[in-house]
Amino acid sequence: MKKSIIRGTGKFVPPHVVTNDDLTAIMDTSDEWIRQRTGIQQRHWITEEEPCGASDLGTNAAKMALEAAGWTPDDIDFIIFATLSPDIMFPGGGCLLARNLGLKSTPALDIRQQCTGFLYGFATADAYIKAGLAEKVLLVGAEVHSSGLDMSTRGRDVTVIFGDGAAAVCIEADDTEDNVGLVASALHADGHYADSLKTELPASNLFRRMPEDISLDDPRYFPVMDGPTIFKKAVRMLPQVTMEVLKKAEMEITDIDLVVPHQANKRINQAYGQFLKLPEDKIYHNIQKYGNTTAASIPLALHEAMEEGRVGKPGDVVLFVGLGAGLTWGASIYKFP
Ligand code: UT7
Repeated sequence: MKKSIIRGTGKFVPPHVVTNDDLTAIMDTSDEWIRQRTGIQQRHWITEEEPCGASDLGTNAAKMALEAAGWTPDDIDFIIFATLSPDIMFPGGGCLLARNLGLKSTPALDIRQQCTGFLYGFATADAYIKAGLAEKVLLVGAEVHSSGLDMSTRGRDVTVIFGDGAAAVCIEADDTEDNVGLVASALHADGHYADSLKTELPASNLFRRMPEDISLDDPRYFPVMDGPTIFKKAVRMLPQVTMEVLKKAEMEITDIDLVVPHQANKRINQAYGQFLKLPEDKIYHNIQKYGNTTAASIPLALHEAMEEGRVGKPGDVVLFVGLGAGLTWGASIYKFP
């Protein structure tokens, strides 16, 4: 059976850095609160002078990944684009990204799995590869959160954690008999918690999806989150799904060289590590630089972990894990060839 191998990774974040202190100028928050509760020190946001969409950030990340893989855009035979902040309502950002790459007929699939977009995307890419439907898949996670955040104190719990950014991986089918590539994945969703983290408008379940009598200040235009509920779910489900994927892969936690988790809150990932009795250096963090970049978060962390030499040597095993809006959660294990 064909194996799904990562041939190249790439990242792109908008250059404008917003520090915690910058946020204190627009809302009632503090550097101390944000650092202590989340581990975030800064994030990157697009600017009014240079607005752009998730697909634009994704295109830059994709170009870097393509170069690393030694591919040209024409080599790609399937695109998977993960975002919760699409450039426009429709068509999907995958089509826009393909257009940016100059492609005219390459299939492009958008997925809306929020913080687990990379996990769902990698599993989908692997299924296409194993089914013989694709050989070279470009998987991109990209978000422009900042243009949709509530910049008043009302939205501070969400606004301080979200950052803009993108990351991409080139995944190729390989005929090797070795047990490498995407070894196993476990995915879940529970829509009963959909209200715990959501943006409601525009909404096709209303008679007018953009009601004329609603003020642009209406909280339904902004992401709202029941942070403590999501936090508690994460510290319970992330270890659980880790054990599930380890069992599928017939591995032990000690076989994992590095956990690359979704970067939602450093405290969540530390609690996860304590539960699984992992040494601190076995969990990768870059939330301090970027905040929560949702669909971009795991591939962005992977790209930097590889750049820093933390993982990527032949035989290294990395475990990806995350939970977010939906709720959706999952984990996967990848072994470098
Ligand atoms: O990636 C998607 C999945 N999302 C997550 O995994 C996020 C999970 N949740 C969290 O990370 C945390 O719940 C938050 C970081 C969002 C919030 O931290 P918390 O420790 O759960 O705080 P809280 O919501 O319980 O609020 C505690 C206090 C409240 O004040 P009172 O009622 O105690 O007076 C909040 O109003 O902190 C206040 N607060 C803030 N204060 C300063 C909330 N946000 C802020 C803020 N700055 N930005």
